[in-house]
This record gives sequence, structure tokens and C-alpha cells, in this order.
Amino acid sequence: MPLVAYVVGARPNFVKMAPVIDAMRRRGHTRQLVVHTGQHYDRSLSDDILADLGFPDPDVSLGVGSGNHGDQTAKVLAGFEEVLLERRPDLVVVAGDVNSTLACALAAAKLGVQVAHLEAGLRSDDWSMPEEINRVLTDRMSDVLLTHSPEAEPNLLREGIDPARIHYVGNTMIDSLRKLEGRARRRAAWRELGLNDHEYVLVTLHRPSNVDEPVRLNAIVEALTTLGASAPVVFPVHPRTRDQLRLGSGLEQLERANVRCIGPAGYLDFLSLQGAAGAIVTDSGGVQEEASALGVPCYTFRANTERPVTITHGTNVLLGDDPALIADVRPSTLPPTPSAIPLWDGHAAERSADALTMALAERPAVEERLALA
Ligand code: UD1
Repeated sequence: MPLVAYVVGARPNFVKMAPVIDAMRRRGHTRQLVVHTGQHYDRSLSDDILADLGFPDPDVSLGVGSGNHGDQTAKVLAGFEEVLLERRPDLVVVAGDVNSTLACALAAAKLGVQVAHLEAGLRSDDWSMPEEINRVLTDRMSDVLLTHSPEAEPNLLREGIDPARIHYVGNTMIDSLRKLEGRARRRAAWRELGLNDHEYVLVTLHRPSNVDEPVRLNAIVEALTTLGASAPVVFPVHPRTRDQLRLGSGLEQLERANVRCIGPAGYLDFLSLQGAAGAIVTDSGGVQEEASALGVPCYTFRANTERPVTITHGTNVLLGDDPALIADVRPSTLPPTPSAIPLWDGHAAERSADALTMALAERPAVEERLALA
């Protein structure tokens, strides 16, 4: 039976990949090799999320940890190359746009192993984002491009990608959401914070462009302080953001201002908090998608988004990148109105499995691939 390697490294990868591994395992015609690079290693960013998702125990853990981009990417590249040489998978599946995605696609492509990219074709056209570099290069190296929204295909065609490689399968992150939404809602995680549903604004911020520069971070803290005077704010703080806030007195200021700074939430808790939020402010990609699926108004604190379908078909509004704008967000008094985005229907992993099965059936021998390249 062919061997398929599934690579995960950071929090959003787990949510996207879990349903695909499950769909392929249930078909019973492949063996699975789950590789965790260890880009995220904190319990709250990794183990807790994996447990909530019922994610299979990784067969291989590379344990690369944090580092500068070059250092982290290089460690994953070298570590995953060893796995490829030893285990010889027939296909490698990578997801999203994190450093682990790029590194593993590169290692596989160099060895002539077929690469499938889940969530291919998203573009912010903002080359200052590390994720945009990861997306473009990973797509260029991929044999199978699994896309989640209509704009992905034209983006890929513009870059000269062969249309025969592109498969519009939908959003597997929403498969995870639909599967666990009921459990998440029953948790009512907001109650533990002494809040009522729909009265609070949920905030997540972790992009280096927002949190690494102290002057900008201070302006964001000021805006959240003002926002906290109008509505309760729940702020699950990413470790990167926490470390930057600790360099000053940002955390103390926020706590005094009705902003509940909690640690990174598990998957179920975060889904629970999203579903009952009156509004969400975020710079995350996945949260824009989940908020749309749940029907909760989402204000994206960025100048651009690689997920325009969440604006045209979902609840997402591009707020812009001026910190002062955050202070004007208010919880909606209207009930959530879940969006109907094509193929975000809870069955994207099945369609992904169809495409992966086809690619395995048609795969040329490694020698032939290397000769063609
Ligand atoms: C990464 C992804 C980003 C994604 C995000 C989801 C890249 C380039 N970025 O960003 O696209 O949206 O994951 O969370 O791959 N840290 C910990 N514990 C951990 C992991 C990280 O404390 O388990 C801290 C470290 O100080 C580290 C910093 O967070 O230096 C940043 O981690 P890193 O993996 O480089 O990127 P993220 O900001 O998490």
C-alpha cells in the first residue's frame, strides 16, 4: 500500500489536516505517516489542540522549536529530509503557509517525492509577509494543489501553474469546525470569564507586523484600553504577543481596562468563545474563516487579506491597519448569520481524499519525475 506523509507544525495546520488524515485512513488504501515538526511545542499551542481534535499521535516528531526564519526552516528541511530518506513516502501532504510547510515541500520536491498542498493559491500580494513567501514557493513545488476558494485558481494560473494540478476541494478547516461545533457550544467558555454570550469582543493578534514593534504595540494597547471601556474584551494572548507585552506594562494596563488577557485557548474553548462573541478583531487567517462560518462579525486588523471570499461571501470586514480603528468596534446586537461559502460544507476532506487518491494512482516513478523536472 502506498505511504502518505502528513506534515503538521503549527496550530492552524492541525485543524486543517485532521479531517484529511481521517478521510484517507477510513478509505483503507494507504498507510499514514504523521510528522509533527515541533514548530509549535507549547502545550497550549500544540498538545491541547491535538487532543481536542482527536488528532493521531505523530509517528515522527522533529522537535525543531522556535528560531529565526532561516534557522527554523533549515532545521525542518534537514530533519524532514532524513524522514523522507528513511521512510520513502509516495506522497507528502503539507498545509497552509507556515515555515514548516515550505521546508517540507522543499525537502520532498528535491527528492522527487510528490507534494500535495492543502490550502493552495491564497495570495495577499504582500511580499513583506513571511506567509506569502511560503505560499508562493510551496505552490510552485506542489504537484497537487488543493484549493479552498474560487479566487485561488486564477491566482495559480497567473503564476503559470498547470490547471490539471489544481483541485477545488473547499475548506477542511470548516470540516473540523462543523464536527466539533456542538461540543464547543456546550462548553460555554465565556461563562467561566463571568460574561454573557454576544456581549464581548474577542481579540487575537500575533502577526510580527503588529506585535514586534513596541510603538505599534503600545498604540494597539491604547486602542484596546479604549475599547474595554465600551465592551468587555477577551484576548487569548499568543506567546509571541505575550513576550512583547511583557517588555513593557501592556498586560497590566489591559487587565485594568476590562480586557481579559487569557493564555492561548484550546480548540474547543476558542471555538466556543468565537461562536458567542459579539464581534471578533483579528490578524489571523483562520479566524477570518471560522468567524464567517459561524456568522460572527469579524474585523480583520490588516491592510490586506489573502482570504477575500470571507469578505464577499462571509462576515469579514477589512478594518485596515490603523490601531485607533480597533477602539470603534462594537459587539453586534443581531444574532449570528452563518455564511454559505461554496464548498465550506464540512465535506472538503472527502474531496481532498478523492484528489489525493487520484494523484497516487497516476504518480510517475521517482526517477521519471526527477528526469522530467
Ligand atoms: C506561526 C506562523 C503563522 C501562523 C501562526 C499560528 C510562520 C512564519 N508563522 O506564527 O503563519 O499564523 O504560527 O499561531 O510559520 N512560541 C512559543 N511556544 C510555541 C511556539 C512559539 O512560546 O509553542 C513563541 C516563541 O517565542 C517564538 C514565537 O512564539 O519565537 C513565534 O513562533 P513561530 O513559530 O516562529 O511563529 P508564530 O508567530 O507562532
